[in-house]
Amino acid sequence: MKTTRNKITVVGAGQVGSTVAQLCAYHNLGDVVLVDIVEGVPQGKALDLQESGCLQAFDSLIVGTNDYKDTADSDIVVITAGLPRKPGQSREDLLTINAKIVKSVTEDIMKHSRNPIIILVSNPLDAMVYLAKKVSNLPKTRIIGMAGVLDSARLRTFVSLELDCSLVDVDAMVLGGHGDSMVPLPRYTTVSGIPITELMNQEQIDRLLDRTRKGGAEIVSLLKNGSAFLAPGASVIKMIEAIVHDKRRILPCTAYLEGEYGWNGIFFGVPVKMGINGMEKIIELKLTDEETAALNKSAEEVKKTCSEVDALLKKLSS
Ligand code: APR
Repeated sequence: MKTTRNKITVVGAGQVGSTVAQLCAYHNLGDVVLVDIVEGVPQGKALDLQESGCLQAFDSLIVGTNDYKDTADSDIVVITAGLPRKPGQSREDLLTINAKIVKSVTEDIMKHSRNPIIILVSNPLDAMVYLAKKVSNLPKTRIIGMAGVLDSARLRTFVSLELDCSLVDVDAMVLGGHGDSMVPLPRYTTVSGIPITELMNQEQIDRLLDRTRKGGAEIVSLLKNGSAFLAPGASVIKMIEAIVHDKRRILPCTAYLEGEYGWNGIFFGVPVKMGINGMEKIIELKLTDEETAALNKSAEEVKKTCSEVDALLKKLSS
């Protein structure tokens, strides 16, 4: 059945992908196509979700498939396909495995959708979104990585727990790569407009920033088999909502830099304006020397993984 609702394709019907599909439906963001390489799983999860529609009061159509023809003319595509981290494994360990998956998924998507907005979730995120841009050739406004919304949500949570105050009053800004070198910014992390530097001592701040940097690994070590999916899924939904409803929200996202923050040709976590056209603008913050040094260190690491992607793509095409 064809509808005029937004068509949202979610590739990977695992933990993150099925959370994204579920939240898209619950928030009435559009029709959902759930794709996976494993036969039966996307179909089963899609049917299960569709059968919850009358209970959750949503009208979205949910399709599960192994065939990319069903993704034709998608407005938004969320790529979660790939392996999650195991305990002790870094996001970078996943690079070679997930690069092959993300390459083939992006090629298949682009065969059937001319101009989608792609949101990457698969890790290592900065490298995967860089690879997907190279393969898709999409303009930088239409290809974005999900990392900063999640990393900021983690910092917001830790701040609210530390200060015993409402989560909704806390805002946070985390820039840089989606790894241990990420750069949480206390000066731009606020409770009802008050920077946390006014509300906590340095020991408290350092402890929360450290926990934020290791936030993904903390969940991996608890779950033992798999990585976080509820907060990542909810983070993707914030980005989709901003696009579908043209909210022009300012969100930390992984965007393609062309000179901003002094870097060129890498995907990096920065504040962006998100609206109907995707990543509409990168916002450049004034940073202290110390913040700039931390950001440059993170960018160096991201650049290194991008070079690894370039080498891998060369090898795969030869
Ligand atoms: N095409 C489509 N789907 C694929 C492909 C492929 N080529 N290869 C793997 N998949 C599917 C798997 O079958 C699985 O259903 O991707 C799904 C991944 O789901 P999970 O293993 O549950 O992983 P998840 O926790 O969802 O994480 C997915 O997001 O946060 C990142 O680090 C995480 O890279 C990982 C990704």
